[in-house]
Amino acid sequence: MPAWTSVGPIALWRSQSGRATASSDRCPHRGMRLSHGFVRGEALSCIYHGWSYSLSGGCIRIPAHPDLVPPETIRVAVQQVQEADGILWVAVGQPATQPPQLGELIPLRSLTVETDVAAIEDTACAKIDKDGLICLPEFPWIGLLLAPQAKHTLILLMIEKERSPADRLAASRIVESLRRRAEERHREIAE
Ligand code: FES
Repeated sequence: MPAWTSVGPIALWRSQSGRATASSDRCPHRGMRLSHGFVRGEALSCIYHGWSYSLSGGCIRIPAHPDLVPPETIRVAVQQVQEADGILWVAVGQPATQPPQLGELIPLRSLTVETDVAAIEDTACAKIDKDGLICLPEFPWIGLLLAPQAKHTLILLMIEKERSPADRLAASRIVESLRRRAEERHREIAE
């Protein structure tokens, strides 16, 4: 899937053996987005001409030249990915810290919101903490993990582990309502 980081867009993918990798989302050949590509085995292949990239970013196959060993200079940048409690954390460069501990919260679902973090904070009447989490004052059993993207914000809805199916449904509705109000607020400000 595509995502955005401070070093630009990335293609987040999982190899057949289960390893998650964050590769630069631009194929060095003709610039096609690698997030449109496909995973085969332990490699990510570009949808355009099929060049394949390993977990460490090196080009390992050029279908138009099957006998060629691609030079080491053909590679995509990769960022470190750490998996914790069902969440993939991408570190740009060397990670300074371990992924944050989110206590009893587990991921429930993700949503895209067509606005920025400030509008979501205003709508939720809460501030994002150092881990990127907003706790809703009225619903302390729900957390929103925010990931700002280039033109929108990703929300990962988190909920306390032991909550019932009814609470999970309620949490989903609460965050959908918050998304609607945040987007309305954003449109009003833009007009
Ligand atoms: S643009 Fe990716 S292989 Fe050609």
